[in-house]
Amino acid sequence: MYDHIFSLYRSKKILGGVKIDKNARTPRTPKRFSKHLMQDILLQNDVVKETLPETEKLSEKSLWSMLYKHQEIILKKENYGKGIGMLKVKVLEEGNYEVHIEDEKKIITQKTELNSYVMNITNGEDYLVQQFVALAKINDSPFDIRVIVQRKFGTNKWIVTGKYAKVSQQDYFKTNLAAGGSVLPVDEAIRLSSVDDNIDISTLLSQIDEVSLEATKQACSTETFKDWLIWGMDVGIENNGKLVFFEANEVPGYKGFKNLPDLTMRKRIRKIKAYNLKMKNKKKG
Ligand SMILES: Nc1ncnc2c1ncn2[C@@H]1O[C@H](COP(=O)(O)OP(=O)(O)O)[C@@H](O)[C@H]1O
Ligand SMILES: [Mg+2]
Repeated sequence: MYDHIFSLYRSKKILGGVKIDKNARTPRTPKRFSKHLMQDILLQNDVVKETLPETEKLSEKSLWSMLYKHQEIILKKENYGKGIGMLKVKVLEEGNYEVHIEDEKKIITQKTELNSYVMNITNGEDYLVQQFVALAKINDSPFDIRVIVQRKFGTNKWIVTGKYAKVSQQDYFKTNLAAGGSVLPVDEAIRLSSVDDNIDISTLLSQIDEVSLEATKQACSTETFKDWLIWGMDVGIENNGKLVFFEANEVPGYKGFKNLPDLTMRKRIRKIKAYNLKMKNKKKG
């Protein structure tokens, strides 16, 4: 199945010995399910809908309407992951624009210049334009949460089997580990962060689980994902405790668990993955 093909791809077995350069600036990644289609699926869920940033397909028109509506927007490539091809655009007080890519910021003064800059960089590829959400920060770096949701083959009981916080590298706005983000236990991250002190952490943690499970339920109600066994959700937190749901990854990375002091979650996740693989192979005969 899909899942299996991706894991073969990752383990390089079908890459014919081609080595993946871990230090390359643009990590290799298989094409992913459409972010836009997933957004439409998730909008059908009342719990998740409340947490989704406003998103549109990128066009000249949506670029400007979203920029003036929100002052700060994110452009992301339609079906890629790992933070690839993301940029942030902000309207500055003087009416100039700031473009932020990786750890570099560039000031653009003319509307026409920004327009051609964006159209050039997105180069006719499918992109989304999304409202920027000011995530809570740790030492000036935004962070969000990777939530792994799994079910055991043959059951319909989805459970959150682990989560960690990913903190962006200095001067980055994206938290992806592939973009140099680092890992912390979730409760510790929240405590260290700019999340208001009067927010109850255990309530927040159960809300994060709830929105992840609702997103799972919604995604798995589709024909494409009805047999799915694992998801990796990206959920952010604003200073006032409001949650923001960034995305549902259908082939989630979970290597961050290795960097936690407690390996319990990693073991649990791998155990269920191994069980599921065994059962799927058994079914195939
Ligand atoms: N609208 C947004 N506002 C603020 N930060 C964002 C926004 N969208 C994405 N990010 C940051 O960038 C990261 C990657 O975005 P995501 O939508 O998960 O794409 P990818 O598939 O490349 O991981 C998120 O985990 C978050 O840290
Ligand atoms: Mg992501």
